[in-house]
Amino acid sequence: MKNRIIDHPVLGKLSEKKVITFTYDGEEYQGLEGDTIASALLANDIRKLRVHEASSRPRGIYCNIGHCFECRVTVGTQEGIRACLTPIKNNMSIESGKAQPQPFEDKQPRTYADFIEDQVGDLDV
Ligand code: FES
Repeated sequence: MKNRIIDHPVLGKLSEKKVITFTYDGEEYQGLEGDTIASALLANDIRKLRVHEASSRPRGIYCNIGHCFECRVTVGTQEGIRACLTPIKNNMSIESGKAQPQPFEDKQPRTYADFIEDQVGDLDV
């Protein structure tokens, strides 16, 4: 397994860890018992955990201590699980966070003047 510390004074030897299997967005991966979801994904070179709900830009781990909520994933049917805090389990099914449907079109007036200009532009005068 690449991206792993082979022998750590606190965490122990990599060879002593039990290998577990999980799926992420339908693909099967391996992690180690004691991993968080985030560390297991990082060990598999996965950096993108979700996309921004509105812009669809990729998001990943930011604080890695449970404060920023940038690492939200879906585990089974439960959305909004913080990958950096949640221990991974064997056969866990994880899905990345997806963009949400937006109630408005992309171009919205930023000022009242923009709004009036949009309205006048729609009039056939
Ligand atoms: S990376 Fe900040 S809460 Fe998980």
